[in-house]
Amino acid sequence: MQQSYFQTYLSNAQHKRNPFWFMRQAGRYLPEYRALREKAGSFLNLCYNPEQAAEVTLQPIQRFNMDAAIIFSDILVIPNAMGVEVRFEEGEGPRVQTVRTAESVQKLNSNVIPFLKPVFEALRITREKLSPEKSLIGFCGSPWTVACYMVEGKGSRDYEGVRSFAAQNPQLFQKLLDRLVEASAHYLCEQVKAGADIVQVFDSWAGVLSPEEFRCYVIEPNRKLVKAFKQQHPDIPVIGFPRNAGFNYGDYASDVAVDILGVDTQTPLAELHHYVQAKTGKQAILQGNLDPVLLANDKQGAVEQTKRILESMEGKKFIFNLGHGILKTTPIENVEAIVKLLT
Ligand code: CP3
Repeated sequence: MQQSYFQTYLSNAQHKRNPFWFMRQAGRYLPEYRALREKAGSFLNLCYNPEQAAEVTLQPIQRFNMDAAIIFSDILVIPNAMGVEVRFEEGEGPRVQTVRTAESVQKLNSNVIPFLKPVFEALRITREKLSPEKSLIGFCGSPWTVACYMVEGKGSRDYEGVRSFAAQNPQLFQKLLDRLVEASAHYLCEQVKAGADIVQVFDSWAGVLSPEEFRCYVIEPNRKLVKAFKQQHPDIPVIGFPRNAGFNYGDYASDVAVDILGVDTQTPLAELHHYVQAKTGKQAILQGNLDPVLLANDKQGAVEQTKRILESMEGKKFIFNLGHGILKTTPIENVEAIVKLLT
């Protein structure tokens, strides 16, 4: 298969235009997404309908011509495939059946692949329709972030509930993380077989942990996950996004064998690049980190911030993205202004 621009950029010493895509680039800020989402009835119906999921995946590319499409799905399809009930209430976010006992961990289904067939089918359809110079990104949630939802049952401000649970039940929590490592590694490998050529591991809640917890719940599980994945697919780039990791980004970069480090809005890119180099002796490839709140509310401000980001990463390999998912209130013309600057 012909290499995508994203991959050529990564494997080439030459620096041209920075590749770009936006986290959550398919979603409710797009009128064409809202129309199809209404037709599908529910968010999960949309995720599990291969034709519709593929169409939604391609919508932002047709409009903005990003360098990569990310398969339309959710990190919570993994607990769902393990036999856990998952619902998305309108305006309330996810609701997940809680997994807090030895029996419920024991009962989790280990072979998640048959249940997730619609996702692989959506990847195949998308790859067929996507032009060869575009990358197709597969993804999963990190074991910690997915466990947050499984133990708390929903989103939380500080994840005190899951941190307390883990402190009180260290062995059981470890077992839950191990189960998630195994299922997620298998899931990422199957996504590659179905057409993904890059994968990202979303760790949205990595930032609520102490350095000791960060080592046990973020670094160790992700190290095992990436190792298992790379044994099957050594040449597929892995993006790790331990959001709000702060100083913990250093150990993450040293110990988890990711190729690209996703950076949140709160972290200055140039400083992080310097810090990671000091910790690892290597030049990190960073991805980030335009503020999605600024993008949604201040077009000129977002343009200025984009210029500063590009300037601060000049001469370094760098993937442009947001520092977190795009907001549903984002005006299309604000996205267009950023894309114009990048291309
Ligand atoms: O990036 C993309 O375009 C691919 C699709 C994608 C979605 N979720 C679609 C989605 C991806 C990569 C995700 C990842 C995801 N899901 C994360 C990690 C990234 C992050 O944002 O931190 C997390 C924590 C989830 C869990 C989740 N799913 C939440 C908290 C919510 C509710 C948020 C909200 O805005 O209501 C979802 C639902 C969800 N996932 C939507 C979309 C487009 C909105 C649902 C709808 O259309 O009604």
